[in-house]
Amino acid sequence: MSNFKKKFYYIFSIGIFIGLNACAFNKGENPIPVNKTVSYMTDVKPILVTHCFKCHSDTATNPQKPGYAFFNNFSDVQKYALRSSTSNPNYSVLIARLKHLESPEMPYKETPLPDSLIQTIQDWVLLGAPNN
Ligand code: HEC
Repeated sequence: MSNFKKKFYYIFSIGIFIGLNACAFNKGENPIPVNKTVSYMTDVKPILVTHCFKCHSDTATNPQKPGYAFFNNFSDVQKYALRSSTSNPNYSVLIARLKHLESPEMPYKETPLPDSLIQTIQDWVLLGAPNN
């Protein structure tokens, strides 16, 4: 094989390797922390208050509220943050719903949260979902 061809195959295989890994990441099989100093009180809770509490807290205003008040206190949220999803065991139920890996997707019948907000919640889950 010519040197040129060897080089070509070498670079080609690196390309395939990176490509396959990128696919695995997109399918959400590999949660990667971005920010390791994320806080529940200042970063995560405000997202849930804005996007989730209208259906999932005692003070929910949504007519579907009965039976759906899943996030009444911190330990409720933590439970969903730590319980692994049956659809994708690399993620917790909370993240799997947000990433649309488990249905029904959340927020229910609304546009998904931006990736950056999902990542913030994911970072907190990767810390072990502390009450910080
Ligand atoms: C418009 C109302 C509404 C909003 C907003 C909403 N949800 Fe839900 N959520 C529901 C309903 C209804 C269900 C139950 C669906 C079912 O099981 O069929 C549910 C179920 C869930 C469950 C599963 C609970 C279980 O025991 O299986 C999780 C986790 C969840 N939601 C998280 C969230 C998060 C996180 C947000 C905010 C990003 C959110 N939801 C926003 C209505 C909502």
